[in-house]
Amino acid sequence: MSQYDVIVIGAGPGGYVCAIRCAQLGLNTAVVEGRETLGGTCLNVGCIPSKALLHSTHLLHEAEHNFAHMGLKGKSPSVDWDQMKAYKDEVIGQNTGGIEFLFKKNKIDWIKGWASIPAAGKVQVGDDVHEAKNIVIASGSVPASIPGVQIDEKIVVSSTGALELPKIPKKLAVIGAGVIGLELGSVYARLGSEVTVVEYMDAVCPGMDKDVQRSFKRILEKQGLKIILGAAVQGVETSKTKAKVKYQPKKGGDEETLDADVVLVATGRKPYAEGLGLDDLGIKMTERGQIATDNHWATNIKGIYAIGDVIEGPMLAHKAEDEGMAVAEVIASKHGHVNYGVIPGVVYTTPEVATVGATEDELKAEGKKIKVGKFMFMGNARAKAVHQAEGGFVKIIADKETDRILGAAIIGPAAGDLIHELCVAMEFGASAEDVALTCHAHPTYSEAVREAALACGDGPIHS
Ligand code: NAI
Repeated sequence: MSQYDVIVIGAGPGGYVCAIRCAQLGLNTAVVEGRETLGGTCLNVGCIPSKALLHSTHLLHEAEHNFAHMGLKGKSPSVDWDQMKAYKDEVIGQNTGGIEFLFKKNKIDWIKGWASIPAAGKVQVGDDVHEAKNIVIASGSVPASIPGVQIDEKIVVSSTGALELPKIPKKLAVIGAGVIGLELGSVYARLGSEVTVVEYMDAVCPGMDKDVQRSFKRILEKQGLKIILGAAVQGVETSKTKAKVKYQPKKGGDEETLDADVVLVATGRKPYAEGLGLDDLGIKMTERGQIATDNHWATNIKGIYAIGDVIEGPMLAHKAEDEGMAVAEVIASKHGHVNYGVIPGVVYTTPEVATVGATEDELKAEGKKIKVGKFMFMGNARAKAVHQAEGGFVKIIADKETDRILGAAIIGPAAGDLIHELCVAMEFGASAEDVALTCHAHPTYSEAVREAALACGDGPIHS
């Protein structure tokens, strides 16, 4: 039996970051992880592998559609799917190996296996019971399906199965036009699959800025994705090699059917805390099956904390990381803090989509007086040079009286990086004018951010 100051359960972005910060703060730390490799969903079957496939297929798209235009003549590359998956696995390996290195560097013990908590202060893995003054549950989430749809990871797949398909499907049906559906839908559309996305709501990426939703849908359709909105999937029937997706148009009419070789279920994820013994411990849960915590990530049982996808809030790796660092500070008797009002969201399609803070609609519903500064990437020289100007824009929403930035949405090249200028601005309580008065290098995409800030005042220059 070993004794620790902290045992973290789960080595995803929440758990491993928490462990590293705990170790940096001088706490004797271990992490329990049952997967073969560290990094959780994000590094093994989520963010990282999908980014590898998005990158390789983006280059394929460039070769097929834009190379000749730029004077790069020759045959487009052919796709070696197995090699593409091997490249993706190599990227996973480099990243998961990197976490293992960081654990060694910070003297963090990796207890291999699946944990349960028989009592406060105790973590059981196999037959071993370890003692810990503090336990942090960072057990993450798993894909959630919908009634009538059984995921078999062969014909009906979750994001995990979609990263490992034995061959590129001729017809891919995607249920849900959220982040996963659109990122992986893009990957397969670029690989030549006929991709149809069926979405229950009347827009892609429900909850996102309305202008972005409209523009994003148009751009994706131009890239070949077929998007059916306002359609509730009722079920999926499968035969040995094919599937039929049945959906009901919300506006009424008969049930419709969509044929597919593979169906990707991307209808959200649910918190994962199975096997931890939380019921017996009497840990309080929310109505949505998340572990209930207070403002300092403490559960109702002393010495047990929870962070990341298993508690409330957006299921995002970086939100979990921030909570991981903050709870480590709390455990070390310091002041951990997460500003939930400034957590960016990014969709890694081409172009990328990124948002932060409140949307125009949310602020209007609150009755807040706002002004909106918008700048189209068509006025940005750099975006035009990389074929990503069409339909893209930066939108900044500021308080009408104080000019303070309250939210932003970007669709365009490197949006996922550009958004951080506005995140920092919001953290500092900056006004749109502060951004507008900051010199931005030319020619960069970031000039579009400045122009949108200028649009909140006397007007942008290039439109
Ligand atoms: P999501 O919540 O983003 O989207 C699910 C979509 O499915 C919604 O638009 C919903 O309206 C739709 N839907 C639900 N039931 C339906 C039905 N019966 N018929 C048709 N449509 C239906 O969930 P998603 O894309 O599965 O992602 C899961 C989580 O993982 C999210 O919290 C997401 O933020 C996170 N994630 C984040 C990424 C990123 O930051 N780039 C990448 C991948 C996942």
